[in-house]
Amino acid sequence: MRLAVVGGGSTYTPELIDGFARLRDTLPVRELVLIDPAEDRLELVAGLARRIFAKQGHEATVTATSDLDAGIEGADAVLLQLRVGGQAARQRDETWPLECDCVGQETTGAGGLAKALRTVPVVLDIAERVRRTNPDAWIIDFTNPVGIVTRALLRAGHKAVGLCNMAITLQRKFAKLLDVAPAEIHLDHVGLNHLTWELGVRLGGPGGVDVLPRLLEEHADGFALELRMPRQVLETLGVFPSYYLRYYYAHDETVRELHTKPSRAEEVAAMERELLEMYGDPALQEKPALLGRRGGAYYSEAAVALAAALLGTADADEPSAGRALGEGRTGGAPNVQVVNLRNDGTLPFLPDDAVIEAPAEVGPQGLVPLAAPAVDPLQAGLITHVSAYEDLALDAALHGGRERVFKALLAHPLIGQYDLADGLTDRLLAHNREHLAWA
Ligand code: G6P
Ligand code: MN
Repeated sequence: MRLAVVGGGSTYTPELIDGFARLRDTLPVRELVLIDPAEDRLELVAGLARRIFAKQGHEATVTATSDLDAGIEGADAVLLQLRVGGQAARQRDETWPLECDCVGQETTGAGGLAKALRTVPVVLDIAERVRRTNPDAWIIDFTNPVGIVTRALLRAGHKAVGLCNMAITLQRKFAKLLDVAPAEIHLDHVGLNHLTWELGVRLGGPGGVDVLPRLLEEHADGFALELRMPRQVLETLGVFPSYYLRYYYAHDETVRELHTKPSRAEEVAAMERELLEMYGDPALQEKPALLGRRGGAYYSEAAVALAAALLGTADADEPSAGRALGEGRTGGAPNVQVVNLRNDGTLPFLPDDAVIEAPAEVGPQGLVPLAAPAVDPLQAGLITHVSAYEDLALDAALHGGRERVFKALLAHPLIGQYDLADGLTDRLLAHNREHLAWA
């Protein structure tokens, strides 16, 4: 099997490599192609990738190239993990919205829109080239904002799916608290990428008993501390919100905090400099502990699980994804994973072509979302609102123009006022001209 990783020069790549080596029985990668325009980084990362494989006795070859068309040739799956404009562009996304007292974040709010506008055309161009060279290949998108990018890919008819590590991370977390194998945990995961709630935590599978009420009761203080939300709020919600919900539920407080501390992009850029220096050391043969301070927890497990299910290497008798790797599944149980895919009626209050993040049955034939639990208006309202914003954001990314950018910002629940939308539009355009062909 041949896998191509676009954005292979990312400092995250050793996490992926480590997973490919450890989980080789689930996903037998023979050839890995790392593709990246930044040749210097690519060489450092590819060198470490080869040493990790060698150390773990994995015989897959690692090729590094800056030639996209050559790199995707013959790939069974193409992973997208690119960042248009690098950490420098992220730094701007996290900064100028604060001038309007709006959240500065790379996927949420105005910064997320800027990232979508820069990214969608690049990803669509790559996907077109994949379709031309390997029409059967699966495109697995990690590139943020995953919801909007996946929407763009699916609307253009690509064989694509979006993936985020939030659900698998929570699955692992709850398993640990309950002292059971991750395979035993099924999440009633509802919403859009980076706008999700766990409505239930079920033991043994989708039909299993819901232990979320028990978890919320027993770990109320820990959850409140970790999510940085008052315990009473979590008790009232009765569900487990993703930490991105804090940008909504504590918007003003978050903005005040963001005003006073360095941006995440600056922190990450400093870490990346250190990581790249480490990667250049021929003595390093494993992913360094420092990588654990990035946000990519379980990213390789999620990728291996999804690719294995889509490419049919995880058959009914093999360990599967939503289930813990390395632990067998009970014969023939469906392979369920949380992914970003077309709504198609799953959430009845959203259009069919909206992209949701939900548990789905995954196999070589594709992805089918599981029936969703009933969603309370408290969640459904915000999901609907942000989904409408995503629709307008995609329209702006595809067709450009100041007015479309303004409308998307006006539609965003964290913005919503014309003076704010106006000020943010000016700033977004001023800071992104070099990346927007139409601006
Ligand atoms: C989480 C999110 C990813 C995001 C990452 C940021 O993993 O799910 O979508 O890219 O955090 O991590 P970073 O270390 O770049 O801040
Ligand atoms: Mn994510």
